[in-house]
Amino acid sequence: MRIHWEKSGSSSKRPFEEGLFMKNPFRKDFPIFEKTGVVYLDSAATAQRPLAVLEAEREFYENMNANPLRGLYGLSIEATDAYAEARDLVADFIGAGSAEEIIFTRNASESLNLVAYSYACNFLKSGDRIVSTIMEHHSNMLPWRMAAEKTGAELVLMEPTEEGVFTDEEIAGKITENTRLVAIGHVSNVLGVTNPVEKIAKRAHEVGAVIVVDGAQSVPHMRVNVRELDVDFLAFSGHKLMAPFGIGVLYGKKELLDKMPPFLRGGEMIDYVTREGQTWAALPHKFEAGTVNAAGAHGLAAAIRYLKQVGFDFIRETEDRLTEIIFEEAEKMPYMKILGSPNPREHSGIVAFTLEGAHPHDISSILDGDKICIRAGHHCAQPLLDYLGASSTARASAYLYNTEEDVRFFMEKLKAVRGYLGFGD
Ligand SMILES: Cc1ncc(COP(=O)(O)O)c(C=O)c1O
Repeated sequence: MRIHWEKSGSSSKRPFEEGLFMKNPFRKDFPIFEKTGVVYLDSAATAQRPLAVLEAEREFYENMNANPLRGLYGLSIEATDAYAEARDLVADFIGAGSAEEIIFTRNASESLNLVAYSYACNFLKSGDRIVSTIMEHHSNMLPWRMAAEKTGAELVLMEPTEEGVFTDEEIAGKITENTRLVAIGHVSNVLGVTNPVEKIAKRAHEVGAVIVVDGAQSVPHMRVNVRELDVDFLAFSGHKLMAPFGIGVLYGKKELLDKMPPFLRGGEMIDYVTREGQTWAALPHKFEAGTVNAAGAHGLAAAIRYLKQVGFDFIRETEDRLTEIIFEEAEKMPYMKILGSPNPREHSGIVAFTLEGAHPHDISSILDGDKICIRAGHHCAQPLLDYLGASSTARASAYLYNTEEDVRFFMEKLKAVRGYLGFGD
């Protein structure tokens, strides 16, 4: 299928020659591109939403909006059913044993904090070790630091090679017999590298530790099956996989969730409350205090259905091909340095880079003049950047709706950035 990008008379027309056509059949599903004319290369921060998700949100509020789990009338029951259906879909999507193992949260950060407060703070003690990595997003580092401070456990960080690889020696050396919890990101939001979660899970279980996986950058891009990987907890955010903001997921093995106390307390998470005490609701409600985000869950379900329709093969191929183009063009720019693996197929569509002499903030602002959206800064991974000897970088990240035109236009404009700043190359 070939789709023309520009609408005649559109004020947001991109400066491409006539005759250049979009070859991405899914592009048309995202109204924002036609409405704004942006070249969006910041999907690692948040993804764009397809019509199917926008319509699902509207459908919820137009046809089934009532407080879910509370009303005994038809409308509330519909909202409750939509919420339950979304949970079933998520469970199936990541290969969970049952829907009870799926907790809806606000985002990956909240999911990771839930495990840190409810599991780590209650089941770890002085003398125990928590192992994480220097590569983590702050959301998968600060909760463990907090848990270590509260329990007296020590927090140890695994360190990768410059290309972002954790060697077997590093894994075996740091995940010691006294390790009780291992927290690792599946895909780095800076290097784009995919970590060997299965291998690390095996090592964690050998020493009797649980493994918590931050799937914020993996779940939207690749098939993730919690039982095949044998992970104990998996956290991810809906917004990075095209769902509305404000809905996230925590998967946890039932036997672990069962023994954990609630994280937040309030309505809907109890079985019975007396003047003196209370008993907790069964899973998953024990961890979902207050009015739940049923509309968000309904939108997440629509996003997952859409993702399945696109298929992970298409996503991987698109991201790899676009990353290859960036790498090919970067070869012509000796002042451009890409962080991580020299192999574009090991980046999950994420390319963090520096241009000698140009501050990442300037790069981003200059590109914004051509409606190109990339990220600049420390990417919430300051310890990693420090470890790699950089204080900030620019980052382009692709997703299923991006096209060859997007990245060629981006690279063309990137080549001009240094000239703009007064370099004569
Ligand atoms: C690897 C990784 N982990 C966790 C997060 C946190 O996600 P959220 O801000 O949606 O909680 C992000 C977001 O950028 C991320 O890239």
